[in-house]
Amino acid sequence: MTSPAPDLFAAALATRAYSHSPYSGFKVGAAIRSESGRIHAGCNVENAAYPQGQCAEATAIGLMVAAGDRRIAEIVVVGGEAGSGLMCTPCGGCRQRIREFAGPDTPIHVYDAGGHRRSFTLGELLPFSFGPDNLGF
Ligand code: THU
Repeated sequence: MTSPAPDLFAAALATRAYSHSPYSGFKVGAAIRSESGRIHAGCNVENAAYPQGQCAEATAIGLMVAAGDRRIAEIVVVGGEAGSGLMCTPCGGCRQRIREFAGPDTPIHVYDAGGHRRSFTLGELLPFSFGPDNLGF
């Protein structure tokens, strides 16, 4: 799969710097290009009451919806340490959150903080998914 435009990676990386992650120390940034062409970027926001923390993808999706967009064209997630070899793939809950606004062919590009990338489609990360169509939407 082709890589995203550099501006999408740059937006995720820049937003990652604002991550509020004092408990895990694991900074994540996510940037969505919506079908309107706009970029919506967010970071993870942890909480002293641990389960109340929010993933970067959830922040970015909330910002996208609040800006009036509804369809994800592609998404970049940047997390982890440079050189770890571990890409930050979206957690299970975030795969479902992305599913609400994306289709099976939507690209999800995951990076470590050093810029090493792997790209997947949503269908690869969340096969046989449940979505709005199951409810007739
Ligand atoms: N995290 C994300 O923001 N996105 C993911 O896809 C995986 C995990 C965050 C949640 C938590 O703040 C930290 O990474 C460690 O789990």
